[in-house]
Amino acid sequence: MSAEVEKVVMPPAPAPVIAIDGPSGSGKGTIAHRLASLLGFHVLDSGSLYRLLALAAQHHGVALDNEAALQVLAGHLDVQFQQNAAGEAVIILEGEDVTNVIRTEEMGRSASIVAALPAVRTALLHRQQAFREQPGLVADGRDMGTVVFPDACLKIFLTASAEARAERRYKQLLEKGFSASLPALVDDIRSRDNRDINRPVAPLKAADDAIVLDSTQLGIDAVMERVMREIGQLPELKRHLRNGSAA
Ligand code: DC
Repeated sequence: MSAEVEKVVMPPAPAPVIAIDGPSGSGKGTIAHRLASLLGFHVLDSGSLYRLLALAAQHHGVALDNEAALQVLAGHLDVQFQQNAAGEAVIILEGEDVTNVIRTEEMGRSASIVAALPAVRTALLHRQQAFREQPGLVADGRDMGTVVFPDACLKIFLTASAEARAERRYKQLLEKGFSASLPALVDDIRSRDNRDINRPVAPLKAADDAIVLDSTQLGIDAVMERVMREIGQLPELKRHLRNGSAA
């Protein structure tokens, strides 16, 4: 009688995640995109989902404090993340290109208001987690390392003084031909920070196991160098990159 040998098939390891959290204007979006293109990983700009929800609320006449209606809207957001012929990211909401519309200061403020509502965060949780695909994901936001991807293999919390962040935003706006007031931008950044830090659910804070980097005095290249050094010290991530994928 031949003994039946049971084959144990190990489930594939989940795609690795690098979480980059921090306040607005800290440079986390730039770092996330550079890192993703260097590693060949996918990228999640989680703030764009809150911005898209704020815009959808405006389109549908939903008030920013109507939690029940915003929850339904968040669950049915008709969004496509695409690339144009030049390889640039394009975001389509309900059939309309809203790539630039969601980047205004007003949408940032509205996003921060809807993001404070617990039901909205729950409704957007799985949508964010669905971005986790092989060969890996770089996720940027406020709660990537604490709530959405607590098992991320590397967690960076990138911060900078409110003044430095406002000044960067000021320069960006002037370069794009917009007028801007530096004191108003500092005020705006401070009130968004307060709302993001003090909300009861998934507040902006560094995970206990995050590496905190202050970019007030550091350029983007110096931050990238520091992050790459951290990646070089993670054997699982290095192995994963060598194999192309852990699957
Ligand atoms: O990163 P951003 O500036 O595009 O984000 C806009 C707002 O969305 C931010 O003020 C707070 C909210 N947000 C959040 O609560 N959680 C995230 N993971 C990302 C953004």
